[in-house]
Amino acid sequence: MSRQMLLLYCRPGFEKECAAEIQQRASEREIFGFARTKENTGYVLFECFDEEDVDVLAKKQALKDLVFSRQIVAITHQLTNLPQDDRITPILDAVEEYTLCGDVVVEYPDTNKGKELSKFCRKFTVPLRNALRKKEVLTNQENTNRPVIHLFFKDGQTVFVGYSYTYNRSPFFNGVPRLKQQADAPSRSGLKLEEAFHVFVPKEEWDDRVTSGMKAVDLGACPGGWTHQLVRRGMFVSAVDNGQMDQKLMDSGQVKHFAEDGFKFEPVRKNIYWLVCDMVEKPMRVTHLMADWFAREWCQEAIFNWKLPMKKRFECVENNMAKLTELLSSVGGRYEVHAKQLYHDREEVTVHIRRL
Ligand SMILES: C[S@@+](CC[C@H](N)C(=O)[O-])C[C@H]1O[C@@H](n2cnc3c(N)ncnc32)[C@H](O)[C@@H]1O
Repeated sequence: MSRQMLLLYCRPGFEKECAAEIQQRASEREIFGFARTKENTGYVLFECFDEEDVDVLAKKQALKDLVFSRQIVAITHQLTNLPQDDRITPILDAVEEYTLCGDVVVEYPDTNKGKELSKFCRKFTVPLRNALRKKEVLTNQENTNRPVIHLFFKDGQTVFVGYSYTYNRSPFFNGVPRLKQQADAPSRSGLKLEEAFHVFVPKEEWDDRVTSGMKAVDLGACPGGWTHQLVRRGMFVSAVDNGQMDQKLMDSGQVKHFAEDGFKFEPVRKNIYWLVCDMVEKPMRVTHLMADWFAREWCQEAIFNWKLPMKKRFECVENNMAKLTELLSSVGGRYEVHAKQLYHDREEVTVHIRRL
């Protein structure tokens, strides 16, 4: 069935926040519609009253400005009752009118039910890709300048067919970077910081922005998962926390531990590039602290999180983002500020500030 909708992937349990956010961002562009959500499905569908607006949002609503969305896809068809012995033909019919695309991905929701489809989706990609090439809707070589075809399987018989634009999409499969826990990491929490680097800093800029020799401060550092991420990239870290740091990490010689209050800590030398902060605190208190570090020109970039309340989570993010933007604009200078609920974030979102 042909039906234009925007599909957004999100963390299961955060569909309401994802829906409220797209509704808000769309209405700011005078695009109106309504979101269809079902709790714990890991995605949201946004139907525009004017179907042509779906493509406008897929192009112009920057994914990096959507906190609760991992991927943004313009859906053209929802196919139900796919025959088990030939799922390809109805899909080929659906993409008949598509412009030439540069790649195809076969994805599924980030739920237990969705994960059961992972093997099928992987296997299905090869014959589908071949069929799409034969039909000349897909380039023979992967082409990063052309739209990407998305097949999003809800279950074995139901698929959403759509496309995303290369300049406004997550490059990661299912919108999630694949990361491996390091064997010597003191906690799993370090994956959050690693994911944040992947999401907020383009890989080609890592040599200048996430590199060895840099000085970093980690507020709320214990036992050291985040510090470990900085140390393994060759940075020198001031780790601030009253708790106990992992001994192996201290033995690296790259870490200085300050058993102090992160809200009072002041760096001795003003040569800090990265400020990172994972203190369990009220979001607004953290917002003021971060803005203060930039006002004092104590760091160049920061990654931190807002631990979300049980209710009004979208409002909490909106209020903190507005306050952070206001505080930074009163400081002067130009800043890049983004927030994202990462795959490794649970009841929190991760924020990135960069002084330009
Ligand atoms: C979620 S844990 C941090 C985990 C750490 N990022 C890691 O990867 O291992 C939060 C830490 O913040 C610390 N913390 C909370 N309030 C703090 C404060 N005011 N100053 C310094 N540390 C604080 C706690 O002691 C705790 O170790």
